[in-house]
Amino acid sequence: MKKLLDLITEEVAQAFETCDYDRGYGKVTISNRPDLCEYQCNGAMAAAKAYHCAPIQIASKVVEALKKSQTFEEASAVNPGFINLKLCSDFVREYLQNMLKDERLGCEKAENPRTIIIDYGGPNVAKPLHVGHLRSAIIGESVKRLGRFAGHKVIGDIHLGDWGLQMGLIITELKHRKPELVYFDESYEGEYPKEAPFTISELEEIYPTASARSKEDEAYREEAMQATYLVQHGHKGYQAVLNHILQVSVTDLKKNYANLNVEFDLWKGESDAQPYIPDLVEYLKEKGYAYTSEGALVVDVKEETDTKEVPPCMILKSDGASLYTTTDLATIVERMKLYAPDEMIYVVDKRQEMHFVQVFRCARKTKLVEEKTGLKFLGFGTMNGKDGKPFKTREGGVMRLEHLIADINEEMYRKIIDNPEICGEEAKETARIVGLSAIKYGDLSNQASKDYVFDVERFTSFEGNTGPYLLYTLVRIKSILNKYRDLGKDPEEGEILEAENGTQKSLMLELSKLNGVMENAFEELAPHKICAYIYDLANAFNKFYHETKILAEEDEEKRSGLIAVLVLTKRVLETCIDILGFEAPERM
Ligand code: ARG
Repeated sequence: MKKLLDLITEEVAQAFETCDYDRGYGKVTISNRPDLCEYQCNGAMAAAKAYHCAPIQIASKVVEALKKSQTFEEASAVNPGFINLKLCSDFVREYLQNMLKDERLGCEKAENPRTIIIDYGGPNVAKPLHVGHLRSAIIGESVKRLGRFAGHKVIGDIHLGDWGLQMGLIITELKHRKPELVYFDESYEGEYPKEAPFTISELEEIYPTASARSKEDEAYREEAMQATYLVQHGHKGYQAVLNHILQVSVTDLKKNYANLNVEFDLWKGESDAQPYIPDLVEYLKEKGYAYTSEGALVVDVKEETDTKEVPPCMILKSDGASLYTTTDLATIVERMKLYAPDEMIYVVDKRQEMHFVQVFRCARKTKLVEEKTGLKFLGFGTMNGKDGKPFKTREGGVMRLEHLIADINEEMYRKIIDNPEICGEEAKETARIVGLSAIKYGDLSNQASKDYVFDVERFTSFEGNTGPYLLYTLVRIKSILNKYRDLGKDPEEGEILEAENGTQKSLMLELSKLNGVMENAFEELAPHKICAYIYDLANAFNKFYHETKILAEEDEEKRSGLIAVLVLTKRVLETCIDILGFEAPERM
């Protein structure tokens, strides 16, 4: 379906044309004075300059031409030259009825679907997931769902950090603790055991211990670096340990991400890109893109218009080792080869922006991607505690993701059992569902690039701009629909009727915005726009609800019309929260 705003813009543009003005002046926007009108057009102001006459004159002429329109109930010219518009109730009714009939609620699919890879999550193997990884997972998942909803082929890749010193550290620590293991027997020729020699909790203890020790013990650090080198260069025993680390970690990660409703299509990692590096390096040298500077191999990526210094992109260090940039470039090569995406979107901490500027420029300059291939960096800000500093545990340590989730669920549980009807397993499950909405909505409702304060109390509140408030609204609608069903009626049978009053019309106007909001949110990779929309929608609904008799309405036809509005509101809310990555319980 065409967007409502486009339909009415066409109408007003036509009126401009009828009056011999350029139709381009007919652009309509949502009113910024909802007390005065629903929509407005400011085109007469700009037209006045071009046609050398007073804006109010132009506005008045256009308004005259709009008098015959079936779309507007009211069009008025207001000093100095605004055109204020109010839609005919019947026009809005018909638009919503068409939405209601449409499986996709009036949202069209992209005409030219693209293949898009979203690189998000980015956890580091063997290190526990902490709150720093939360934002990437939440935002990336939502952008992925948004892209799919828009009709694109979207592939989510977790891009594991599985290729660093942490591997060498773990191997070294393990070797110190259990030197008798076969992995460390250089003469061992047999099969390595299937079972890992550690559990996830042991692994999570081994890494920080090794990391701390390497900072104090020079020889230990050397050993870890040597082990890293060996595991990266085919040492059989070490690679068997690496596989154990990966397998144990990935099992744990899958569980954690599933708790967040986050799902990846690809579980690839930095290590998968390594085989592409030798050819990449050869290519960069051969084509003359890369040159040696102070022993290192680099590609210049600065541009004349830079206001900040952009250092050369490092390909190899002077000791021949590859770097984070090399891995990301090789990953681009791999992705182009395996998936030929039209676009790659990276959802990563914004402090890594310079890294991606270098990688993207280098990939373009050296033609690893085509001119038309999109490379986008969606950098997110820091999640802070109430003290305005990066979120920590009460003891000041790094907060583990599962603890954070457990805290929220506990708080949610306390609120849920306030309702004496909900107890036991249902209360726990409801707390989990609503808790997830608190975390995700709390995050997504902020523009991604901004830092925000993670405030458990505020996020779990049933009032205000929160996930639980939205779910509460949805649950309220579900409950009315259930009662309607109990009367032996089918909510799906009703048709939308003309709005009876202002609050109903406001709700209906909100509903009509859905396709525009979805399109814009995807274009700008901005889930927060969906949040803002459903918050407005929920407010409009609750106002309507408090002022309207619904089930008590005596006129059958009117009642089924009101129910149809509820059905549509429910579907719109459900579609939106699904894109945000959470769901609603049956009751709460
Ligand atoms: N593992 C990285 C980190 O924890 C994030 C990876 C982001 N993605 C990428 N392609 N570099 O910082």
